[in-house]
Amino acid sequence: MASPDGAPHTADAVGAPPAVEQVKQAAKEQQIDPYNVSGGVDENGNVTAIDYDALRVRFNTPALTQEHLDRFERVTGKPPHRLMRRKLFFSHRDFDKILDYYEKYGFFLLYTGRGPSSGSMHLGHAVPFLFTKELQDIFDVPLVVMLTDDEKFLYTRNKNQGKITKGAALGDFIEYAKQNCKDIIALGFDLKKTFIYTDYEYMGGHFYQNITEFEALLTNNQIRGAMGFDGSTNIGLNAYAAKQCVAAFASSYPTLFGAGDFRAPNYEEARPRKHIAAIPTLIPCAIDQEPYFRLLRENCDRMEFPAPKTALILSKFLTALQGPGGKMSASDPNSAIFMSDTSKQIEKKVNRFAFSGGGATKEDHEKYGGNPDVDVAYAYLSYFLESDDELKEIEESYRKGTLSTGELKKRCIKELQKFVEAFQERRAKVTDEIMREFMTPRKLEFKGNPNATASIEEAVTEKKPEEKQENTSGKLTKGERKALKIAEKKAEKLALREKGQAGEEPKAEDA
Ligand code: TYM
Repeated sequence: MASPDGAPHTADAVGAPPAVEQVKQAAKEQQIDPYNVSGGVDENGNVTAIDYDALRVRFNTPALTQEHLDRFERVTGKPPHRLMRRKLFFSHRDFDKILDYYEKYGFFLLYTGRGPSSGSMHLGHAVPFLFTKELQDIFDVPLVVMLTDDEKFLYTRNKNQGKITKGAALGDFIEYAKQNCKDIIALGFDLKKTFIYTDYEYMGGHFYQNITEFEALLTNNQIRGAMGFDGSTNIGLNAYAAKQCVAAFASSYPTLFGAGDFRAPNYEEARPRKHIAAIPTLIPCAIDQEPYFRLLRENCDRMEFPAPKTALILSKFLTALQGPGGKMSASDPNSAIFMSDTSKQIEKKVNRFAFSGGGATKEDHEKYGGNPDVDVAYAYLSYFLESDDELKEIEESYRKGTLSTGELKKRCIKELQKFVEAFQERRAKVTDEIMREFMTPRKLEFKGNPNATASIEEAVTEKKPEEKQENTSGKLTKGERKALKIAEKKAEKLALREKGQAGEEPKAEDA
């Protein structure tokens, strides 16, 4: 079948677009968890689009509403990112509470991650990172990025029934993590506020204490229920969830907040600090990761040093090129556009594989119009095209049939090439040294909310009980310095008044 302008029409490759009725019927059969993302299959064997409303109901996560967007704008003074405006980030947990905390204390911790399953990330993986970068810029807060080389190693070995396969030895995942780290840096994160780590390198100290404590709170049954594992799943993968969960605790990274960690040669900081554990976290990610964070939220307050329930902001999936029933997947190169693809490859993939919502023939398309709701080129534009006006105009003309599938694909190709080319230019400049700087644990520098009513220092500086009564360190505490300044000012004023009363002119050196 040919598209209206003669470009290859992809409906043949993946079957006809799903009818709305079919989507509803099949919604209960879709499978979404950290290791499986697929739409349902209808009675005719067609894969149906992921039903996000049904998913929200199943996961019990509230919708992100216009009120949230308005409040975001009020609190930050900045308009919400296009991914939020277009409800591609569509659901959340406790987003309101994070805004409350930010209004009062002026900061929180951002946390997101990537499972390095391949040397290059694809466009879908870039989505939460693009969004996270924008949040980091707007809120001016610290960010941790977890690269789960251990998870991907355990998962792949499990999938291959314990066998080592080509490109899936432990060392391969360590290498993928480094390459992905450079990809993430090239998306523009601010070094001063960002710590990126791989699990194999960083786990230890307070982080590892948090892991074992969290492992003690989770049962096999809970993990099997949330992840779809069974008794034959390797024990490493069963235990992994605790790692991804406690990575959300600020107390897993004391160094970033200027405190000591339990790592050689520093053995004094034996346990995490309560006040750091109390810093709340916001996680931007696609909704496949939600099962981890449900376990996290259920158990935050059972830790010895409890953390507030972690807030989430959840996105839909950038669909596979083949259509809205699946997500881009690194294991199927024809389903995805990689950040390492050339402009030519992007053009070829979109033209050849991108599922089209266009009419079956040129005449049909012009008569009945196209359907942007299932059209992959349109879907990609909705993620990457900044102009709301242009997107609307594209949608309307496609529905009317005045914009052809070929023209729509062309516009999409142009936008993706622009994004990927600019990315590749930045990526080429990310040296090993730059990567190491991002991966070095250090005190992060961030300013947070300038209108907050309490200072960041107050929120993250713990006063030891003895300091509150008597400070014997020789150094003044913040409170003491403030009190001293006030006392000095009062004394100055008093002195001036006394001089005035006594009728004395201030001497030159007093002026
Ligand atoms: P991973 O590598 O599968 O995915 C990385 C991030 O990309 C999101 N994602 C997508 N978003 C939009 N469209 C897609 N097609 C698409 N595919 C993947 C994922 O939701 C994720 O946000 N276990 C995790 C790594 C991890 C993590 C985290 C992720 C560790 N800690 C905290 C998010 C937040 C993983 O394998 O992600």
